[in-house]
Amino acid sequence: MELLDGIETRRSFRGFKPTPIAEETLRRILKAVSNSPSYQNTQPWEVVVVSGKKKDELSKIIYQLASSKAATNPDLSHPKSWPPEHEARSREHGARRLKAIGVEREDEQARENLRLMNFEFYGAPSVIFLFMDRTLGHWSVYDMGLFSQNLILAAHSFGVESCLQASVTNYPDAIREFLGIPGSKQLVIAISIGYPDPEAKLNTYRSIKMKPEEFVRWYS
Ligand SMILES: Cc1cc2nc3c(=O)[nH]c(=O)nc-3n(C[C@H](O)[C@H](O)[C@H](O)COP(=O)(O)O)c2cc1C
Repeated sequence: MELLDGIETRRSFRGFKPTPIAEETLRRILKAVSNSPSYQNTQPWEVVVVSGKKKDELSKIIYQLASSKAATNPDLSHPKSWPPEHEARSREHGARRLKAIGVEREDEQARENLRLMNFEFYGAPSVIFLFMDRTLGHWSVYDMGLFSQNLILAAHSFGVESCLQASVTNYPDAIREFLGIPGSKQLVIAISIGYPDPEAKLNTYRSIKMKPEEFVRWYS
């Protein structure tokens, strides 16, 4: 896959086939991603790949927490509100996802079911957790973003698709405890990965992107 083509065809998927990803493929993806840039080459990423029975067990634990509306305490706090233009995009994103699966906004149960799918990793055979040391600051979070994007693009080149999931980071203590990760490591993001399920209605949803004219200023 050509690089530009990969960037332009990448998208999030929210329905996966149970087909496992070959370990060799995962290792090749991670080898490519090790070339990610980072502030002063500090390489803050600490990566945990969870598949198979372990993934199912972990999913049960966090699904239970999410469905019982257990208190959340993400290491990286989620925004409480957005400026109006970002709020509008976020609302449009929510509405279009519901429309893709034929759910009315008023259908609270269906919306809740949609939220809970995050905690089943959308049926993906593997989930990748990215941790970094708690002592690190903003620039390391920036590095983690670059690493994440490289990861999902490298996976995409193998036909392995993904969904970044901040929602899953709501329960970092349970995840750390299950994985035996010390509290000194903060959970930055979860990324569900696998082969997309062509039958999943949710995968028909496409996000709307701004055009460069809307976000670029040129000076010369
Ligand atoms: C930091 C971050 C967190 C995200 N968290 C979630 C999530 O919890 N659940 C989800 O379904 N998608 C999540 N997404 C995916 C976004 O909704 C998606 O990237 C956005 O709607 C644009 O769509 P695209 O990825 O298909 O271009 C997240 C994306 C990012 C970058």
